[in-house]
Amino acid sequence: VPQENIRNFSIIAHIDHGKSTLADRIIQECGAVSDRQMSAQVMDTMDIEKERGITIKAQSVRLDYIKDGEHYILNLIDTPGHVDFSYEVSRSLASCEGALLIVDAAQGVEAQTIANVYIAIENDLELLPVVNKIDLPAADPDRVLSELEEAIGIDATEHALVSAKTGQGVPELIDMIVERIPAPKGDINAPTKALIYDSWFDNYLGALALVRVFEGKIEKGQKIKIMGTKEEHQVLDLMYPNPIKPVKTNEISTGEVGLVVTGLKTVEALQVGDTITDAKNPTAEAIGGFEPAKPFVFAGIYPIETDKFEDLRDALNKLKLNDSSLSFEPESSMALGSGFRTGFLGMLHMEVIKERLEREFNLELIATAPTVVYKVKKTDGEEIEIQNPSELPEPQKIDTIYEPYVKATILTPQEYVGNLIKLLNDRRGIQIKMDYLNETRVLMEYDIPMNEIVMDFYDKLKSTTKGYASFDYEPIGFRPGNLVKLDIRVAGEVVDSLSIIVPEDKARTRGLAFVGQLKELIPRQLFEVAIQASIGNNVIARSNVKSMGKNVTAKCYGGDITRKRKLLEKQKAGKKRMKAIGKVQVPQEAFMAVLKLD
Ligand code: GTP
Repeated sequence: VPQENIRNFSIIAHIDHGKSTLADRIIQECGAVSDRQMSAQVMDTMDIEKERGITIKAQSVRLDYIKDGEHYILNLIDTPGHVDFSYEVSRSLASCEGALLIVDAAQGVEAQTIANVYIAIENDLELLPVVNKIDLPAADPDRVLSELEEAIGIDATEHALVSAKTGQGVPELIDMIVERIPAPKGDINAPTKALIYDSWFDNYLGALALVRVFEGKIEKGQKIKIMGTKEEHQVLDLMYPNPIKPVKTNEISTGEVGLVVTGLKTVEALQVGDTITDAKNPTAEAIGGFEPAKPFVFAGIYPIETDKFEDLRDALNKLKLNDSSLSFEPESSMALGSGFRTGFLGMLHMEVIKERLEREFNLELIATAPTVVYKVKKTDGEEIEIQNPSELPEPQKIDTIYEPYVKATILTPQEYVGNLIKLLNDRRGIQIKMDYLNETRVLMEYDIPMNEIVMDFYDKLKSTTKGYASFDYEPIGFRPGNLVKLDIRVAGEVVDSLSIIVPEDKARTRGLAFVGQLKELIPRQLFEVAIQASIGNNVIARSNVKSMGKNVTAKCYGGDITRKRKLLEKQKAGKKRMKAIGKVQVPQEAFMAVLKLD
């Protein structure tokens, strides 16, 4: 197939607007899979993805399409659906010439739609507006199209109206892809230049890179060079991507996408965003925009049973084989013993990793509250990065603390604007933009410290707006902040893994709230336990967990035996997630309590 008959495109959409369903429809329409194979959605492959309905690893599929006797190749490049993976989204989009911009006909434009469109525009993509779910009674395509023009300022005159569910409008949409999305450019005779836009580890094939070739070609047997890591490897095999059955090929040429099989034992050498070239005849310059995966959020992960430390290390190493964005280093905590300081791309990434460690490796873990990375300029001029609040130097040694900010995009029905402004102000947000898309919906943009988002912002946003607001964010760098370290003492001892970094003017309220939460969460012990919040030696809040009577079940006397047994069972189950700090039993929830301080 000649280069001018290739079309590379992605689908961008807010969650639940129908990306996977439409992808499946397009695949089916091109006859790439049978109906029986379609019974399971093919684009989402991992179990956790299926359960949570999110796409973690981008998959792609190469489709053949015949129009007016002409043979076209359509490469549908899937993008991860969550903000944690925004860098991977940007690399997937960089591999395309166009994108279908899907909007739910009943819901309208949402935050994630806009955030993804910004990335698509940065990558110069041709955007095809697609209004999906037109079969719904509440569908209002005209409203959606005018929102697209208002919110994003794109020309939506030429658009597609489809139902991914019934298939209506999908053949026309495919024609539109062929007509409107430009063919890939690039010199097939130039030295190899290909972008790694995804990579993963396959148990049979080893590390795989999913690439888009921009110049020249990749051939089976070729000695390639990875420009970022400067490593050289041999191409063992090449395949055209298909989530069910990849098709072997001897070369992947300019404009095409394909899977490169290297036989490597880990994906670390095949980082997303890196450039592949020929080892002997390299291209002059790598493809721009390569950033090694950088964790934004850190948490301590500790085995509940101390002798499981090595098992945890093995498990993390196994997960790392397939996820170069995961980072971890041993750390020890006075309170929790030996564990790992683990870096994640974001909150969802953290949840997924923790869940996999517990589920696939059968580990019982305590995770400390996630923290963002702080940069600290010390009075002696040294600059350090803090991944754990307890590492913050003494106040007199600190010149400036810098904290990461994000640009938050929020779309909300107009009646919640007042509440949202209040929430965003409480969270130290700075308003950048507020636009009415129409009489009922408002687009808000804020710069906000990432730390404030880590602290259960999403749940608050949802409850403040009865679930109607949508939210997305993008990191925008570090800014100075007036911050202090708040320590928690339990029975007089500072519990290092409960320390947090807070804005100075909120230290007192957050200290009080934290102590209040801990008082509720720490079960009564045989003795009274003092809980204090302090800045340095200065105690700013305190409370006591009263001691309990000798017999916990005593209060059930007179009650029936099943109630008594239930209580005992509840205590037993609770115990599993307890960690002894000195003589005090502290439950897992206490380590997360800091996330809910207002
Ligand atoms: P994520 O993969 O979770 O980001 O979501 P998505 O955007 O891929 O959405 P998905 O394809 O999973 O669709 C979300 C829901 O909308 C599912 O319940 C689909 O069955 C439904 N849906 C998708 N397209 C249509 C449509 O055209 N009409 C109707 N009525 N429902 C649809």
